[in-house]
Amino acid sequence: MPAADTIDAAAAVAPDERNPPAFGVYIHWPFCLSKCPYCDFNSHVRHAAIDEDRFVRAFAAEIATTAAQVPDRVVSTIFFGGGTPSLMAPSTVAAILDAVARCWTVHPDLEVTLEANPTTVAATRFRGYRTAGVNRVSLGVQALDDAALAALGRLHSAREALDAIATARKIFARSSFDLIYARPGQTPNAWRAELEAAIAEAAEHLSLYQLTIEADTPFAALHSAGKLTMPDGDAARAFYDLTQEMCGARGLPAYEVSNHARPGAECRHNLVYWRGHEYAGIGPGAHGRLDIGGERHATATEKRPESWLMRVEARGHGRVTDEVLTRSERADEFLLMGLRLAEGIAPDRYAALAGRSLDPARIAALREHGFITVDPDGRLRVTAEGFPVLDAIVADLAA
Ligand SMILES: C[S@@+](CC[C@H](N)C(=O)[O-])C[C@H]1O[C@@H](n2cnc3c(N)ncnc32)[C@H](O)[C@@H]1O
Ligand code: SF4
Repeated sequence: MPAADTIDAAAAVAPDERNPPAFGVYIHWPFCLSKCPYCDFNSHVRHAAIDEDRFVRAFAAEIATTAAQVPDRVVSTIFFGGGTPSLMAPSTVAAILDAVARCWTVHPDLEVTLEANPTTVAATRFRGYRTAGVNRVSLGVQALDDAALAALGRLHSAREALDAIATARKIFARSSFDLIYARPGQTPNAWRAELEAAIAEAAEHLSLYQLTIEADTPFAALHSAGKLTMPDGDAARAFYDLTQEMCGARGLPAYEVSNHARPGAECRHNLVYWRGHEYAGIGPGAHGRLDIGGERHATATEKRPESWLMRVEARGHGRVTDEVLTRSERADEFLLMGLRLAEGIAPDRYAALAGRSLDPARIAALREHGFITVDPDGRLRVTAEGFPVLDAIVADLAA
């Protein structure tokens, strides 16, 4: 059986001078070579060359403006996401990392991840990223089957994806790749074989996402026209259980709903989000969470790349949203994010944020149904039974 309810919690490190609270910087690169029909990320295709120098100046300006608001942070993680950040020149990545280091102190054990699309992978470029300071790569492989890759609108073959994984492993000590499963027409047996091949290639981390139909994508149109048959609830559950079982047995347990790692090799940047720490969101359409004057601000920037550039050039940042979260919004977000993790949440942290404790009767009922467990110290964790209905569990606890 999947062991999501028995995975050890990562030790919670109490902040001190040597271990300041985690602080992440997310940098969004909003361009791709083509738009995949399932994807609703903020990504755009441009046929003209991108003026990377202009983007570097804008990223540096937005970093400086953000750092002026939260100056005393020690950056523990930086994540270049997209879009396709592996379309950036290594010198662009280096210049952005310099801007971060000019504005904040960086932790000596800084994690710097860059998302890469196999179509763009070249060893010289990867070495350039490594020289720039990137120390972890996350590849969007999606499938190890040529027909499935074509159906997903990907520009690379399975062979090219495997070559990209090999290149990433040769150049970076830490790497991960993403696969999408429960695809139209995929059988659990076919997924078993594909996942087996993936685990054999994996270094220390895998992100395994069930295909979701996102609104306003070509896949959504196909789906509503009845041309894309998705696995029903039971089949989706079978895919999920198979994934947990195989990864758990091969030393890559889930530490989050869709993320698997050898213990200690978790993506520290994503843990910043799930553990409710602060992060700066830089670049078009980036979201941030910043603590200013004792309040948590939820920030978001303009999504369209050219409009974002103009805003930053005019006022030093591209922010279009800056909202102070209420206590209950903050507490709900903490539940929603924290319960995704196998390590679960400490209810007293919820109580401190919400100003009220979780209802013991609701906890008891969820426990009785086998959806959550409660550690001797009170920590709540969602079980393998509970993960498929996580949203309902969160809604129940937060009510
Ligand atoms: C920003 S993309 C990754 C990097 C790069 N752009 C690429 O595609 O190679 C982040 C990941 O989200 C996942 N993803 C995107 N849309 C999805 C969807 N509709 N359902 C499931 N996973 C999805 C894919 O696995 C993708 O690799
Ligand atoms: S999946 Fe990746 S490459 Fe495809 S459109 Fe989305 S961000 Fe771009």
